[in-house]
Amino acid sequence: MRLIVGISGGSCAIYGIGLLKVLKELNIETHLVVTTMGEYVVEHECGFNLEELKKLATYYHDNKNLAAPIASGSFKTDGMVVVPCSMKTLSSIANGYSDNLLTRAADVCIKEGRRVILVPRETPLSAIHLENMLKLVRCGVKVMPASPGFYNQPQTINDLVAFMVGRILDQLDIEHSLYTRWGE
Ligand SMILES: Cc1cc2nc3c(=O)[nH]c(=O)nc-3n(C[C@H](O)[C@H](O)[C@H](O)COP(=O)(O)O)c2cc1C
Repeated sequence: MRLIVGISGGSCAIYGIGLLKVLKELNIETHLVVTTMGEYVVEHECGFNLEELKKLATYYHDNKNLAAPIASGSFKTDGMVVVPCSMKTLSSIANGYSDNLLTRAADVCIKEGRRVILVPRETPLSAIHLENMLKLVRCGVKVMPASPGFYNQPQTINDLVAFMVGRILDQLDIEHSLYTRWGE
């Protein structure tokens, strides 16, 4: 399996790092692209610099490099997860404004009919945000707000991260035991 992971400048960078760690453990090929604000928020919230982040991915691509493999539909992937997904990046994707590698890669996945999962954190949501999300969902994109459930009694922040990462993996049909399913 080959996945693109985008990290933009929304809060909850911990979910992006958590996803990269799990995909690495599962030996899944990842292509990482990070926006400038994504890099800033990762460092601010998690104390991870870009070099440490790069080590969690199989391949890293500069967000300015619009000639990277993931910018083309002819480079086959199994889809893309943007986590966290800022409202700015979500708006760019919803409107096909592919002026950086992250948004171009998402645009490519949508046009090729591949899986795209966006994990926004923003609250409250304006009509602009909601209209952009509706547009995306109508194109088959999964919008998964970073809102972990509390029905499995999480005890730590790691439990919350495991739940969200597990729910993302569910959307990708990747088997895992990161959280206890309701009824199990
Ligand atoms: C600490 C921090 C947290 C932020 N959290 C959010 C957020 O949760 N959602 C959001 O849409 N923007 C958030 N922003 C603002 C975005 O980073 C900003 O809109 C930026 O232009 C997004 O650019 P990007 O999508 O290219 O990363 C945050 C900024 C900072 C500094």
